Amino acid sequence: MEKLSPPRHIAIIMDGNGRWAKKRGLPRTAGHSAGGEAFRRIANYCRTLGVEYLTVYAFSTENWKRSADEVSGIMKLLAKYLQEALRDMEKNHVRFCFFGDLSRLSPELRKLCLDAQQRSSEYHEVQVNFCLNYGGRDEIIRGIKSYAQDVKDGKADPDTLTEELFSGYLDSAGVPDPELVIRPSGELRTSNFLPWQTVYSEFVFMNVLWPDFSPEDLDAAIAEYHRRNRRFGGV
Ligand code: FPP
Repeated sequence: MEKLSPPRHIAIIMDGNGRWAKKRGLPRTAGHSAGGEAFRRIANYCRTLGVEYLTVYAFSTENWKRSADEVSGIMKLLAKYLQEALRDMEKNHVRFCFFGDLSRLSPELRKLCLDAQQRSSEYHEVQVNFCLNYGGRDEIIRGIKSYAQDVKDGKADPDTLTEELFSGYLDSAGVPDPELVIRPSGELRTSNFLPWQTVYSEFVFMNVLWPDFSPEDLDAAIAEYHRRNRRFGGV
């Protein structure tokens, strides 16, 4: 079958790790570990397809409510993944970016994020935006605070504020909006994921748990995206 051209920017809510583990009688952290492998698989596949941006929801501002064990398990996985990514950077040529408030992460994890971001800044294969301690409303509030500071400092004038200009104050500054958002696991909500950036995105909800998500599932989501008729409010 001929491959359909992929959207430039795909965003994914990596959901269903806990249920995947429960079904197998495993601890939730085993589900996150399998979710990490699914991420690796899908990021590589996006690279071969020529997707320019892949944004993934790895940890939300609300996820701190989970047990201390689960939170530390996810943080350890992320640190391990970033260490491996730093090691393999020359081979993979993936550019890393982070959306979210990194100030609440441990100094070690924050340093890994900043190192990965800095060391990969010249790469152009695919840009992976990790949403870490990310919440869409929190992102907008942080953007408003930073804009207000610029107004106070005389660097910005509210009379000239536009949507485009305000976009530059968000974590996603410079990144085009995602055309396609995928949520596996059967849940039908957006959970504070990129509310500003997804107003015209196509949403594809799928009944597969994230650790089982395969390149064929991504192909199916892209095919569904191509069946939609995007009008952006026009006729
Ligand atoms: C949602 O599933 C998943 C998370 C809150 C964590 C996502 C983290 C990963 C995929 C691992 C990160 C590592 C890398 C390398 C990207 P859930 O726990 O809410 O699942 P449930 O709804 O079935 O309980």
